[in-house]
Amino acid sequence: MSIAANTNDMANDMAESDATFGAGGSEPYATALRRNESAVLHLHDDLEGTVSASSTMDVAKWNADADAADLTLLRSVTGPVLDIGCGPGRMVRAARSLGIEALGIDVSPTAVSIAIDAGLAVIQGSIFDPMPSEGQWQTALLVDGNIGIGGDVSAMLQRCTELLSPTGEIVVELHADPEHDRTYRGMLVGTDGTASASFPWAEIGLERLLERAAALGLVSRQSWLVAGRSFVRLAPAA
Ligand SMILES: C[S@@+](CC[C@H](N)C(=O)[O-])C[C@H]1O[C@@H](n2cnc3c(N)ncnc32)[C@H](O)[C@@H]1O
Repeated sequence: MSIAANTNDMANDMAESDATFGAGGSEPYATALRRNESAVLHLHDDLEGTVSASSTMDVAKWNADADAADLTLLRSVTGPVLDIGCGPGRMVRAARSLGIEALGIDVSPTAVSIAIDAGLAVIQGSIFDPMPSEGQWQTALLVDGNIGIGGDVSAMLQRCTELLSPTGEIVVELHADPEHDRTYRGMLVGTDGTASASFPWAEIGLERLLERAAALGLVSRQSWLVAGRSFVRLAPAA
């Protein structure tokens, strides 16, 4: 299957209905990517807009090569792989080095331009807009918390099922706590204190994800822990 795509069409089709991860405001995500720095994700209370928790997101890691846990994951998947929210493309690069056909998609123009400059197969656009090769992807990859994109876990799983071939699988990196289930508005804050617009995000652990998956006719084929990270492989129930 060819994964060539028209990047201009994808960008033009992108929905602008809500801010996405780290975008807007002073664009701290783009800055952190360019400077290879970390950034802090602040979780906001939906009603009052107050900061209720925060966690450091290692943006620099996304510019680096895939680590041992990433490689373990990739060695177990079948191509063609669609890396959803691929950032600057470390998983696409690693997949290519393993001989696995892979395409990344990301809304961030900065992330996509870093990936393209590195010669990687990455397109700019939202995963919720029309994609090349819908219904033909063998693996939909959601790592680094990307199941949280859009702040609606079920909508993301549903979208992945539309993209997959009938024998395809969704591989999801989960929150370490299996019972964790939280949807919120986040705001990314850079090391210089500049903030993004607020954006919808979600975090979910294994047990709660499996409930949402079951409602969509998806079952777990495998779940595993490696280097403190939790993953699950989902597929349509036979
Ligand atoms: C937590 S970061 C993950 C970074 C990435 N996996 C890496 O290795 O660099 C989330 C990524 O999802 C992207 N994103 C957010 N909303 C998106 C959407 N609707 N469609 C595609 N990508 C999206 C962001 O631009 C960001 O690069």
